[in-house]
Amino acid sequence: MKKITALMLSSAMMLSLAACGGSASTDAVSSEAVSTAEAAPAALTTVNAGKLTMSTNAAFPPYEMTTDSGEFEGIDIDVAAAIAEKLGLELQVDDMDFDAALLAAQNGKSDMVMAGVTVTDERLKVMDFSDTYAEGIQSIIVKEDSTIASPDDLADKMIGTQRGTTGYIYCSDDFGDDHVTPYDDGLTAVQALNNGQVDAVVIDNAPAKEFVEANPGLKILDTAYAQEDYAIGVAKGNTQLLDAINGALEELEADGTLQAIVDKYINAE
Ligand code: ARG
Repeated sequence: MKKITALMLSSAMMLSLAACGGSASTDAVSSEAVSTAEAAPAALTTVNAGKLTMSTNAAFPPYEMTTDSGEFEGIDIDVAAAIAEKLGLELQVDDMDFDAALLAAQNGKSDMVMAGVTVTDERLKVMDFSDTYAEGIQSIIVKEDSTIASPDDLADKMIGTQRGTTGYIYCSDDFGDDHVTPYDDGLTAVQALNNGQVDAVVIDNAPAKEFVEANPGLKILDTAYAQEDYAIGVAKGNTQLLDAINGALEELEADGTLQAIVDKYINAE
């Protein structure tokens, strides 16, 4: 837990370095907004008027999950709500498969995808990303008695991943499609590991920890598979919204809100 918190801190610092002069308010904003901060809400056009519509896949704790009573919670949900508030919008969360959540933002069906999304070169070709707000690690989950001890041992094994994720992309690039089984979500992949249908699961470290905690007999390998940055995705060319999001993120980082949200879901020991 400590490690992740430290990583989050370092990416929060990266954010403050990266966030420079992106003002949403240049000419679109009238005089009433002059005294307020950079992320001025006035002229933002969104998919649903008055709302900030976020597509996500709420099966990825602690970033996004569904409570027993059917509400959404998690780091991304809280950060998105804080951004929406700064922009004078109401947050609307649309839950769907992960690949669909990416597509929704790409195609302008949602304003943004926030789902622990890793920034990759391929994705940058089809969508724009905000400043990074967290760091992710692709981890390997195996059974406690597994002979797999490092990423190299994954060759010739069957690896479970969530469809459309970087875990799937890296593993199929490295070991071939035949060695990777895509599942609807991370938990289903972990259940397949429990049942012996796959030999390992490659998934982001934060959900990996939660899944392993809830499933005795599994462990996370010490060697990570990959390190990556999480950011918010928007339709390519939607600079108005992107600038507004970055402005809000910068403020949330500066006033400690971002860290407080991370601490709420990832206990600092
Ligand atoms: N970070 C990985 C990716 O971007 C996995 C994200 C999965 N997120 C989710 N909410 N299921 O591909």
